[in-house]
Amino acid sequence: MSYLKVLEHPLITHKLTILRDKDTNPALFKSTLASLTALMSHDLFSHLATQPVTITTPLEDMQTQKLAKPPVLVSILRAGNGMADSIFDICPEASMAHIGMQRDPDTHEPLFYYEKYPQDLSMRQCILIDPMLATGGSAIMAADRLKEKRVSDIVFACLVAAPEGVHAFHNAHSDVPIITAALDRELNENCYILPGLGDAGDRIFNT
Ligand code: PRP
Ligand code: URA
Repeated sequence: MSYLKVLEHPLITHKLTILRDKDTNPALFKSTLASLTALMSHDLFSHLATQPVTITTPLEDMQTQKLAKPPVLVSILRAGNGMADSIFDICPEASMAHIGMQRDPDTHEPLFYYEKYPQDLSMRQCILIDPMLATGGSAIMAADRLKEKRVSDIVFACLVAAPEGVHAFHNAHSDVPIITAALDRELNENCYILPGLGDAGDRIFNT
């Protein structure tokens, strides 16, 4: 897989347009973010390994495939939860992990505050989830923490990425592919993505 995959699909573009519109109300924002993430799941799971299994249908035995090891969905709090719940619905065999971090409003550096993982984390593929990749600081710190726990197979999923964040993340974690619904133009002076969709956490949680 190449290090950056920007998904192209008419429905993805349509739903992103709804998310970007400042007049979209919180309920529609939340439901659209969930359905857009569900559309992305096809690509997010495409790297998962399967293994052969024999089952019996109502008519006969058959050889088929199932997931070798269900993945771990790693949500970067808070905004990651808006996407992760939707992916969890599609793959309920997965485990959900959480990494809590928040950008300092002045320095824009992420501040870590929480983490919780399944015990066999290092043996499993991790899908790291956060709607926004701005400076890249939060995603880089989250991937650092997973690697400290000896995770070797990580994919980063987001909705909107800035070129600055893609560059920084690739410099720090060149082995971790980024799958995004959009690659936007640039960051503003407050490190918000332009044109972007604003503060994802505030819009999901109506804060
Ligand atoms: C947002 C977003 C990312 C981060 C991206 O979260 O959800 O985690 O900013 O910015 P970066 O690439 O410059 O690190 P925020 O820190 O606002 O926390 P929240 O999810 O609690 O709103
Ligand atoms: N965090 C957000 O929620 N939005 C941005 O544009 C940048 C960081």
